[in-house]
Amino acid sequence: MKYSELRTPSYIVQEGALVKNLEILKRVREEAGVKILLAEKAFSMYRVYPLIAGYLDGTTASGICEARLAHEEFVRPGTQEGAGPGPGRPENHVFEPAYKTEEMWELCGICTHIYFNSLAQLELHRPVWEPCQRAGRLGIALRINPEFSTQEDHAIYDPCAPGSRLGIRRSQLPERLPEGVTGLHFHTLCEQGVGPLIRTFRSIEKNFPEYLRQVRWINMGGGHHITRADYDVPRLIAFLREVKERWQLEIFLEPGEAVALNAGTLITKVLDIVETEDMPTLILDASAACHMPDVLEMPYTPPLLGALEARSPAEAASCVSGNAAPDDSGERRGRWVRLASRTCLAGDVIGLYRLPEVPETGDVLTFGDMAIYSMVKNNTFNGMLLPDIVLEHDSEAEDRFEIVKQFGYRDFKERLS
Ligand SMILES: Cc1ncc(COP(=O)(O)O)c(C=O)c1O
Repeated sequence: MKYSELRTPSYIVQEGALVKNLEILKRVREEAGVKILLAEKAFSMYRVYPLIAGYLDGTTASGICEARLAHEEFVRPGTQEGAGPGPGRPENHVFEPAYKTEEMWELCGICTHIYFNSLAQLELHRPVWEPCQRAGRLGIALRINPEFSTQEDHAIYDPCAPGSRLGIRRSQLPERLPEGVTGLHFHTLCEQGVGPLIRTFRSIEKNFPEYLRQVRWINMGGGHHITRADYDVPRLIAFLREVKERWQLEIFLEPGEAVALNAGTLITKVLDIVETEDMPTLILDASAACHMPDVLEMPYTPPLLGALEARSPAEAASCVSGNAAPDDSGERRGRWVRLASRTCLAGDVIGLYRLPEVPETGDVLTFGDMAIYSMVKNNTFNGMLLPDIVLEHDSEAEDRFEIVKQFGYRDFKERLS
């Protein structure tokens, strides 16, 4: 397919950008001697799992569905078997705050590592996992809560926030870890650099040293923005090597965002332009609520190709007064527009953007960084159809766009009765 033949809205995942991220992660794996897993919750476009499996050690699932997906689809190039127990296969890890017994049976058959969020869950499911663990087929870990917060902006993404249900607190751990536990897990970061990771681990070294000595491996969770341009990769590598050496532990990282950061766009068409009191409001065929829920949930304002500036909807007043603000060259240019959706939700606004010119009805706009936490979270509220999923191959050819999936009315209907 050529670009001009694509429908809107469409998520377009760029193979070239994905590979660039994967090369960085592979460097960390190799130079630090650690294992890196794809956190499927961020990006589960399994059409590219074989590509990712060529670079990473496996996946980490949030529950039975993602674990099954990895088992079926996370296949190394040139092989047949997906993530799961068995020599040479990618690893299949799973963490869920609480499991159902019927799921535990299946998880024990397809996973290589299972993480528990409480001692009660560990013991409840012991009759199911213990035989597999004894047979050497399964790693068992406890998730700890280091009670060491490094985030200020997003309490909703902070597992160390007061009242958190995620992870076992130091005061709740017995002196000796229960029989069968061979690993520890912590996940406390969100879109952060190496500094907060190091500070967090130092607090774990201080408060949990006896437990670090009782296990063979540790998983440092996700939230590491390793593939962001300003991430200090050499410092990460040096830190991981030091931890490995000092504590004699096998180390896992399980980033989601970093795998597909800036590796996808969402194209959308302007359907109408409504003159509101402050600026033109464009109605798009993409929706924040349906197609990029994190824009409202985080919240954040996604990048838009060609925009001179972007602000959140809350900043409307400052945009109007800044409308004629001079740019770097002292020239006054551009016009603020509000980009909104055709759903009924008044707050379904993606952001305010200063553009060189006000787009016209029928124009196509491109939002950046739309591979992660987009298609895994989308929904059909108002009967909005889901965007097509497109893979842009790493090629110069005009027809480098492959339609991976198109959605229609049936996808909407089949979820409802
Ligand atoms: C346990 C766990 N691991 C890994 C991740 C992936 O995090 P990120 O996509 O920010 O790297 C998350 C995200 O919420 C998580 O909860």
